Amino acid sequence: MDGNGRWAEARGEPRTSGHRAGVDAVRSCVRACAERGIEALTVFAFSSENWRRPEVEVAALMSLFVEALDRELEELQQNRVRLSFIGNRHTLSVRLQQRIADAEAQTAHNDGLKFQVAVGYGGRWDIVEAARRLAARCASGALRADEIDEASFADALQLAGLPDPDLFIRTGGEHRISNFLLWNVAYAELHFTDCLWPDFGANELDAAIADFARRERRYGLTGAQARGEGGR
Ligand code: IPE
Ligand code: MG
Repeated sequence: MDGNGRWAEARGEPRTSGHRAGVDAVRSCVRACAERGIEALTVFAFSSENWRRPEVEVAALMSLFVEALDRELEELQQNRVRLSFIGNRHTLSVRLQQRIADAEAQTAHNDGLKFQVAVGYGGRWDIVEAARRLAARCASGALRADEIDEASFADALQLAGLPDPDLFIRTGGEHRISNFLLWNVAYAELHFTDCLWPDFGANELDAAIADFARRERRYGLTGAQARGEGGR
């Protein structure tokens, strides 16, 4: 979700007002995904690298997370959204950690959209954490090193149990993954748009889905094989 700062600056407003507008865009996007029957949505709200931003901006973002959780929980419940957080939550304030734990517990049994918010998240951190967890299980004798395969590795990652994302959307004009779900996006279709995040809504989501629908996904096969036209 990139472009909040530029959106605000273009209006002569402080960057934090861009982040506020960004929360509104998240709300529209979650609604639109729920309406379209999308199974899972994961948004990158705050990276492990974002901690290096000016202290006032970090503080504003952290209070915005708490505020947004308090305000949005009711609608998420009504829409049967299952909310969870991924990332290194020990780096977050105790207050935010508690709000997160409450929100997760309250929505845990919802059967609608699986909505993941990445806060204090980094794709490399996620992979290293998974390796560490598997290594600990090996050390304790619960797992043999030769039992580790792609499936068990994926199960040790933050998005364990969720399907790999089909579509990766980056707003704000940069053509980078910037350490988001590095493992999981192996076969995702990448969609880049100049749209700044606060301007992202149902129309932009539909444009991204239409772009996705035009792609041919081959997973290493030939075009003919992927289309089921045989070929050996
Ligand atoms: C993305 O918007 C939101 C966060 C990283 C929290 P930016 O804050 O990166 O906005 P720009 O890139 O400066 O416009
Ligand atoms: Mg940015």
